[in-house]
Amino acid sequence: MSGPDRAFWQQRFVEQHLPWDRGGANPQLARWLADGTLIRGDRVALPGCGAGHEIEPLARAGLEVTAIDYASAAIALVARRLASSPEVRATLVEADVLAWQPGTPLDAVYEQTCLCALHPDHWIAYALQLRRWLRPGGRLCLLAMQAPRPGAREGRVEGPPYHVDINALRALLPQSDWQWPKLPYVRIDHPSQADWAELALVLVRR
Ligand SMILES: C[S@@+](CC[C@H](N)C(=O)[O-])C[C@H]1O[C@@H](n2cnc3c(N)ncnc32)[C@H](O)[C@@H]1O
Repeated sequence: MSGPDRAFWQQRFVEQHLPWDRGGANPQLARWLADGTLIRGDRVALPGCGAGHEIEPLARAGLEVTAIDYASAAIALVARRLASSPEVRATLVEADVLAWQPGTPLDAVYEQTCLCALHPDHWIAYALQLRRWLRPGGRLCLLAMQAPRPGAREGRVEGPPYHVDINALRALLPQSDWQWPKLPYVRIDHPSQADWAELALVLVRR
């Protein structure tokens, strides 16, 4: 398997070395809840949920949340936090996002820096998963990591995070399968490095 594996991510959580972690929910989540992109009753998945700071606001807003991560230490961390708020209901799943399937198609996927955690060799398989998970009309709320690397000029593939180039993204999630939003896109600073950011995109599955 190319790129980081389960043991790599598990170790990050065991050592609490989580440079990507904001320590709270991404500010874009509140905007998507406020503007009706994510609505009460939606069945939403959070692939590669990590510390899962978005689970609680989503569940409190009345969404049915399934959070998935294959690092058991990440799932244990989320479980510990949720245990102190028993009114917050969410399903936690320890699984590989390249294999997991929902029981029934979802209304939404909240994709925050899981794509950029996967080596690009797995991007096509992951993009097919995202399409498979969603019902037609379902929304992919995507925070696409902008982390360009100088080595790319020589053809090196460097990460994680792997830079989610907009051209690659258009090829991965083509217009024939997804309705793309119009420009401009909101850009959100990322905690791990000053010049890195996420582009917030909502794609609708055709
Ligand atoms: C960069 S972290 C992002 C965590 C969280 N989404 C956030 O933004 O704080 C990537 C997460 O994806 C998880 N991950 C990576 N590859 C995975 C896979 N194939 N299946 C499930 N989880 C995976 C890692 O364990 C890690 O928690």
